[in-house]
Amino acid sequence: MTPNTPIGIIGSGAMGAGIAQVAAVAGHNVVVYDTNEAALDKANKNISATLQRLQEKGKIPSANEVMGRFSFVNNITSLGHCGLVIEAIVENLDVKRSVFNEVELVVSKECILASNTSSLSITSIAAACHNPARVIGLHFFNPAPLMALVEIIPAIQTDRALVPQAKALMTQWGKIPVIAKDTPGFIVNRIARPYYGEAIRIFEEGIAGMGAIDAIMTADNQFRMGPFALMDYIGHDVNYVVTETVFQSFFYDPRYKPSFTQKRLLEAGWLGRKSGRGFYDYSEGTPLPDSTSDMNTAAGVFERILAMLINEAVEALHLGVASVTDIETAMTKGVNYPKGLLQWCDDWGAANCLAVLDGLYEEYHEERYRASTLLRKHAIGNKKFV
Ligand SMILES: NC(=O)c1ccc[n+]([C@@H]2O[C@H](COP(=O)([O-])OP(=O)(O)OC[C@H]3O[C@@H](n4cnc5c(N)ncnc54)[C@H](O)[C@@H]3O)[C@@H](O)[C@H]2O)c1
Repeated sequence: MTPNTPIGIIGSGAMGAGIAQVAAVAGHNVVVYDTNEAALDKANKNISATLQRLQEKGKIPSANEVMGRFSFVNNITSLGHCGLVIEAIVENLDVKRSVFNEVELVVSKECILASNTSSLSITSIAAACHNPARVIGLHFFNPAPLMALVEIIPAIQTDRALVPQAKALMTQWGKIPVIAKDTPGFIVNRIARPYYGEAIRIFEEGIAGMGAIDAIMTADNQFRMGPFALMDYIGHDVNYVVTETVFQSFFYDPRYKPSFTQKRLLEAGWLGRKSGRGFYDYSEGTPLPDSTSDMNTAAGVFERILAMLINEAVEALHLGVASVTDIETAMTKGVNYPKGLLQWCDDWGAANCLAVLDGLYEEYHEERYRASTLLRKHAIGNKKFV
């Protein structure tokens, strides 16, 4: 694929519009297809306004030139000449499968078909196509123009030659690609789960308040946002749904169990910042609680969440989800962790991390706290991951 390859984008929502902008700025002609005219119109206006701002800041020479590369269409046949089509529609397997089936009938035999799904199986999407070997996952992060990470996910049917091609293209687009096995949540959305789930569990048990947990996790510039503030920022419609999908996809492994606390927020329509209320109240004039003074009452909270995160990273490595380098890159570039979790384990000591997990397992007798066998081996052998 070269900058001359026309790119098709299916779905002009937050992700589709962002990916379309990245491709057009990289020099491609881009066809954006959506069934919803209002969504197309909004994407057109938003991209145009963003490009104007980029021109004013001197980041691109001409917004008009980049805008000239776009067409916005409501007919799927207009994707016929594209060499790569990236799907970014609603997160629903049946709908995605039907769209892949449809688009395959209008594109050339050589066209590569990609999905930006966050949590669905690429293998299952590929299976809807006559030629599943041309299907691959390209998982961008939100907002796509600003977030450097892209997870590349070959399905079990994917032609392996597509992986280096996709990697080269993403690098050409200024992105940082990592390769992930087609398993639930890929790298980031799997390994990051305890940051939310364990924080909620600690809160539910009354060990610490949400404000205190947020303050603990962000103290000394460790994590950029506390788990509760971050869930409110992501939106519970997105964050809870990913947790539930990952939990179901892992055959109900208790490590990924969702919480009633977050489910109730979703049911109440308290989606977080976007609806004015989530864990915190964002209405005008209401200050966010300052809980820094409660931090010291909750010893061990930071270590408990960190140990759970490291355990996920180590288990993903153990099960071949991604390489050491790609796991570290994914967590630092995809969710801005201050350092890679495997490096963090090395610095802290695998034995110290294991002691926290074994202590929790001993206390709760729950599978949720079982340590990865690879972590145990590293602890016993005093070995490093990085
Ligand atoms: N929002 C995120 O943070 C994020 C991050 C990474 C990946 N993703 C994934 O990207 C995809 C899109 O997410 P989003 O947040 O941009 O959604 P969105 O709701 O903002 O946009 C989806 C768009 O798809 C269109 N659409 C729906 N069905 C269609 C169809 N059959 N044919 C053509 N267009 C159709 C809708 O009209 C809408 O404009 C999902 O798979 C999601 O899981 C989202």
